[in-house]
Amino acid sequence: MLMNTVENNAKNIAVFVSGGGTNLQALIDAQERGEIKNGRIVFVLASNDKAYAIERARKAGIEYQVVSRKAYAASEEYDAAILSALENRGIDLIVLAGFLSILGPTVIEKYRNKIINIHPSLIPLFCGDGFYGKKVHTAVLASGMKVTGATAHFVNEITDGGAIILQKAVPIEQGDNEDILQYRVMRQAEWEILPKAVSLFCEDRIRIVGNRTEIIGTSF
Ligand code: GRF
Repeated sequence: MLMNTVENNAKNIAVFVSGGGTNLQALIDAQERGEIKNGRIVFVLASNDKAYAIERARKAGIEYQVVSRKAYAASEEYDAAILSALENRGIDLIVLAGFLSILGPTVIEKYRNKIINIHPSLIPLFCGDGFYGKKVHTAVLASGMKVTGATAHFVNEITDGGAIILQKAVPIEQGDNEDILQYRVMRQAEWEILPKAVSLFCEDRIRIVGNRTEIIGTSF
């Protein structure tokens, strides 16, 4: 009898997007290479209908839904719309992959320690309110630092404040501008550590200790 190749207890992953979706693509590609153990991307939620990430989900045959942030005046209403989009899908993990809207307390509470975000700096540097997308790299370049990087972390009520899961540093080169630096951070750091962090979560290998994490097992 052919064994069922899809793990029976695989965790269901929802990916939230707002833009180009290169982090979503990194997750899709990692899944196709079998690098996301015990997890599968079952749903993509986009905060606007212009996000190219939607096209990436469609091409990969992943169900998606636009829950437009602009359609809801109050953030509480947006939170309720997000929760209803997730209802009855049995979502075990939410991944914020270039998602630019802020999740409110009801979503964070319902999915406590089950939301992972990718941030394009080495938290706690250059993070928090107002630090997103290219703004991060502008501030990094202005600081004169010689390294930057990306952080995969859990999401809590504090913007970019949840426990850090994985980080990776990348060099800043002479002549870098925001575009060059953003691409290097995505290619060399974000697209590598986000799939790894997602796989570690799905394998139940992340232990949260206070505001830190410990990874169970050596290989990752
Ligand atoms: C990138 O700057 C990434 O660091 C941040 O959102 C931006 C777009 O990401 N998380 P993506 O291409 O939409 O995944």
